[in-house]
Amino acid sequence: MTVAVYYVSRGEKTSQNTKSAAEIVAKEFGVQAIAIDETTNIDSKVDLLWVGSGTYNNTPDEKVTKFVDRINTAFVGQLVPFATAGGSGGCMKKIHKQAQSRGIQVVKKGMLIRMFRHTQMTDNREVKIKKYVAKLKTANGIN
Ligand SMILES: Cc1cc2nc3c(=O)[nH]c(=O)nc-3n(C[C@H](O)[C@H](O)[C@H](O)COP(=O)(O)O)c2cc1C
Repeated sequence: MTVAVYYVSRGEKTSQNTKSAAEIVAKEFGVQAIAIDETTNIDSKVDLLWVGSGTYNNTPDEKVTKFVDRINTAFVGQLVPFATAGGSGGCMKKIHKQAQSRGIQVVKKGMLIRMFRHTQMTDNREVKIKKYVAKLKTANGIN
């Protein structure tokens, strides 16, 4: 099973919370997390595609939205939306809805990690991420 982890982490007043979350996820699958830029694209099959963003005014970064817009849907098995946020999961839900509206299969529940401004990754957040990953692995029969 191929897994890829893509994210945008502005790190405005933070130490790049989403980047640190993405890197923990990626490590669990033995891959590198990839920061999305204006030209990032997928050119081969990805069974489990993680797409994440920090939450900025309840919305993902525009680079994430544009990335999801240009994904070749034929390459994507399942998409896992994830976000870090000071509060609500609106950003994560927007990634979810956008992917779904493109006809991409999306996991039932994405991963939301509460990380306020200035917050750095802590042990219990790392545990939460690893638990989510473990559940997803079980659901997809990944060892
Ligand atoms: C400009 C700005 C706007 C934000 N808006 C929201 C918001 O609407 N809802 C929320 O839950 N968190 C909001 N936050 C908090 C961030 O989503 C949170 O700190 C996140 O972990 C930042 O991710 P990053 O470090 O990867 O950029 C905002 C932070 C910034 C800097």
